[in-house]
Amino acid sequence: MDISNAIPQNSNISVIGTDDYSKITGSHVVVITASTSVYTNNRSENIDKQVLMIKDIARKINQYCPNAVVLIVSNPLDVLTYFFQKECPFLRNKVIGVASSLDSSRFRYLLSKKFGVHQSQISDAMVLGEHGDTMVPVFSRVKIDGKSLSSMIKSATKKTLTSEVRNYWKSLRKYKSRSQFGIAKNTFDVICSVLRNKELSIPASVMLKGEFGESDVCMGVPVIINKNGITKIQEITLNNEEQKMLADSAQSIKKYIKSV
Ligand code: LAC
Repeated sequence: MDISNAIPQNSNISVIGTDDYSKITGSHVVVITASTSVYTNNRSENIDKQVLMIKDIARKINQYCPNAVVLIVSNPLDVLTYFFQKECPFLRNKVIGVASSLDSSRFRYLLSKKFGVHQSQISDAMVLGEHGDTMVPVFSRVKIDGKSLSSMIKSATKKTLTSEVRNYWKSLRKYKSRSQFGIAKNTFDVICSVLRNKELSIPASVMLKGEFGESDVCMGVPVIINKNGITKIQEITLNNEEQKMLADSAQSIKKYIKSV
């Protein structure tokens, strides 16, 4: 009802609310933001109910728009992307968990504040792995004004920033009900990339089959997206510490998957 009021008179777009899944017939893109209940301390709090929900949604999408590119934005992000993918195994490149790009935006913002520079001066600030307590900010690739950050940053600062990016959502919750604009813009960018076939390079959650040494798990890795969904997983170089953190992050997601 609310979003409908934001449609300009001269727009040919309409927004409807419905619980009739047949309305998604033939969709090119489906974005899943559904949630069964609110979590407060951890994104995995309602994991069992959320997994039941995502399996049901996956079956409906399979029935009504099996060719859609599906963006999963619900939490626990990587676990839900995994179970969705299991329900529709033939759709590997079309199931995208959108969250690591949001974490990366947060990382870039925190770095810009810390170093007193504009966000646009920071490049290659990327967060990989779980959209959760083990996410991995990749410091080794960050550049400020084209210069590598590695020699300018102390390990204590890295630790603080890592904790801040991991807990960003909690700080946000303290001031307002939930994250909205950041995740909306990051999701919008993926939708545009798919609908306009505009290549987009971001980290996103996808089923891994050996990439970064991991399989049978979904987690945030650098990907390239276009109208077909994920066209490439980019196996970038990480330093030893980051590789170890990423492996631990994969283990954490696998543990959640097993617990279901
Ligand atoms: C966040 C929630 C949406 O990171 O996962 O804001």
